[in-house]
Amino acid sequence: MSTRAGVDPRPAGDGPVLEARAVRKVFRTFERAPGLRGLIKNFVARDHVDIAALDGVDLRVERGESVGLIGANGAGKTTLVKILAGIVPASSGEARLLGRDSFDLRDAEKRRLALVMGQKSQLWWDLPPIDSFRLLKEIYGVSDADFGERLNRFASMLEVEDRLKIQLRQLSLGQRMKMEIIGAFLHSPEVVFLDEPTIGLDLISRETIRRFLIGLSEERAATFVLTSHDLEDIEETCRRIVVLDQGKVAFDGGLTDLSRRVTGKRAVEVHVHPGARIDEVALAAELSGFGAEVSGRSAGSLTVLVSADRLAALVPRLFTLLDVKDLSVERQPLEHLIREIYRRGVDGPAGGAV
Ligand SMILES: Nc1ncnc2c1ncn2[C@@H]1O[C@H](COP(=O)(O)OP(=O)(O)O)[C@@H](O)[C@H]1O
Ligand SMILES: [Mg+2]
Repeated sequence: MSTRAGVDPRPAGDGPVLEARAVRKVFRTFERAPGLRGLIKNFVARDHVDIAALDGVDLRVERGESVGLIGANGAGKTTLVKILAGIVPASSGEARLLGRDSFDLRDAEKRRLALVMGQKSQLWWDLPPIDSFRLLKEIYGVSDADFGERLNRFASMLEVEDRLKIQLRQLSLGQRMKMEIIGAFLHSPEVVFLDEPTIGLDLISRETIRRFLIGLSEERAATFVLTSHDLEDIEETCRRIVVLDQGKVAFDGGLTDLSRRVTGKRAVEVHVHPGARIDEVALAAELSGFGAEVSGRSAGSLTVLVSADRLAALVPRLFTLLDVKDLSVERQPLEHLIREIYRRGVDGPAGGAV
């Protein structure tokens, strides 16, 4: 553990860092039928619709884990983050953070968590970030030395050193988000929630933020919960993936496991020597014998999709058939998997991987 941060590593404790047990969250929305009739009817008895944003969520997150929370729009991701972080209470069930009821956190626990929401600023809009950071330093009681060291390091990692003195509202979306992230990490939190931190950002900013998060999660034994629409964010930052579907955990496990469950396919990328001749007929015949297919081609390489259990048998055949220069096996890209999940649902019982 880094001593550079100057904070004593706090005792790990026995329990999980985050825990949800049978968490339900129901939002009641009132609807009025159109026109006068609706008005009168509403006067008598208001019609309401209850939406179960979360419908019995169980989750345990241990110290140091990075969890990627994915799911379609409206699946309940933001609601789950808000409940775990203690922003809103659950309707029923139990949510705990660092061993305490999430909705009853003391300052001591609040100081150990950070929340970044892509849609909402935690910094002062009219202040230059450096002033917001100084305020946060006082609020969280960060020492001068830690503050200086962290601010310099984070600003340089996120490439915003020369933007610290500009009013927040004058910064680009990407720069603002980077400032939000710096603000969230200044007090060296142990539990970090990031809800859509890269939404609407350009590719370069997304890359920079991703690198920052990977760097920090490796350097510190912090626990991360990241939701993102950008599946690459999740794929690169998180080892564990939780798929929410209509307020329920549809999958909880590793990326490879997810891939195995959803399609069970592996992508074999074969690079051939330049100018090598490919016997297409023989290749097609061989592949079909393995239930495999060519899923992509580019100059000097082709990608073959094969089920995981036939992989070991197929690879030697590829060496025989093709003038192989290099060969690598990838799990299915996450994006394909997610599309499959939304189309057919995850095979097996919901949350069976827990
Ligand atoms: N404050 C609210 N009032 C009413 N309904 C809400 C509220 N917040 C969220 N919802 C509903 O709860 C469901 C889950 O929303 P949310 O957690 O924001 O999903 P996600 O972040 O996965 O897109 C959606 O149907 C949404 O419309
Ligand atoms: Mg959301």
